[in-house]
Amino acid sequence: MPRLGWRPRPTIEADHLTKRFGELTAVDDLSFRVEEGEIFGLLGPNGAGKTTAVRLLTCLVSTTSGTARIGGYEVGNGADAMRIRRMIGLVPDNVGLYEDLSAYRNLDFYGRLYERPERERREAIERLLKMLGVWAQRDLLVGTFSKGMKQKIAIARAMVHDPRVLFLDEPTANLDPEAAKTVRDFILELKSEGRTIFLNTHNLDEAQRICDRIGILRTRLVTVGTPAELEDSVWGQKTTILLVEATEPVRRAVESLPLRKVVWEGNRLTVDVTDAARENPTIVAAIVGAGGRVQFVSSLRPTLEDVYLKYVR
Ligand SMILES: Nc1ncnc2c1ncn2[C@@H]1O[C@H](COP(=O)(O)OP(=O)(O)OP(=O)(O)O)[C@@H](O)[C@H]1O
Ligand SMILES: [Mg+2]
Repeated sequence: MPRLGWRPRPTIEADHLTKRFGELTAVDDLSFRVEEGEIFGLLGPNGAGKTTAVRLLTCLVSTTSGTARIGGYEVGNGADAMRIRRMIGLVPDNVGLYEDLSAYRNLDFYGRLYERPERERREAIERLLKMLGVWAQRDLLVGTFSKGMKQKIAIARAMVHDPRVLFLDEPTANLDPEAAKTVRDFILELKSEGRTIFLNTHNLDEAQRICDRIGILRTRLVTVGTPAELEDSVWGQKTTILLVEATEPVRRAVESLPLRKVVWEGNRLTVDVTDAARENPTIVAAIVGAGGRVQFVSSLRPTLEDVYLKYVR
């Protein structure tokens, strides 16, 4: 029996979650855990099962096997379904708003469904629409809105009942760069309030900027980690040095160093390093000692794109 005032932690857990549609396996043996206040991003090619994963976790489709829990409540368990619904918000991949209602009325309708008292609804809607920069358009019919504006209303709608776990399926897919930034800032604000966020995205830069951890899905979860961990898993750090001229003595001096991998491209030299602070001065000293002149020294780190391509190819 939970203590009085006890609130479950807004966690998301998947344990060997699997979904088959007939012969087709859309999500296979998916296991992961998202902690309170964490932003977890799911990347993966078209058809990888990202939307299906969100639909499983938000109780919209039944699981074939495996289990999932939101805040400790079991997805698919009838007794827990209502508790889960109150705890989660969903921004689906298609907005599905009432086109012949105004933005405000769309949100108010959802607030009523969740039985939020009128004053709370009004305050929540005003706050959300202002945060997303669409308060001025609140009384216009959603049917007249651009795709980006509709997307913002769908995001606000997902938050009207003040859920502690938010699922967003490609929330910035239709947004211009400025609107996408507004939405990213909005998501970070929700995180700072201790909410837990699950985000499907094709935007690697976005995942890199806001996700605490990222999973790459290809029906199965092929890898998961912080952006830095994933990047380090591709190749370590590299140093690139641009010389005025890559003379033969300079090349010989560099080749004589105990370096793992050295690639020359014209006057540019790229070296795999494990400890740049220790190795870079040695490399530069060897170059200068052989009469070479250095124009630039910079560090190259693998990008999330390198990680993504490694795992999805
Ligand atoms: N209701 C359904 N009935 C049959 N097959 C389905 C159904 N929903 C999804 N699928 C299939 O499951 C697979 C995963 O689809 P899903 O929509 O989850 O991929 P996704 O990763 O979200 O792709 P995208 O990046 O294009 O949004 C696809 O092969 C899709 O055709
Ligand atoms: Mg999808």
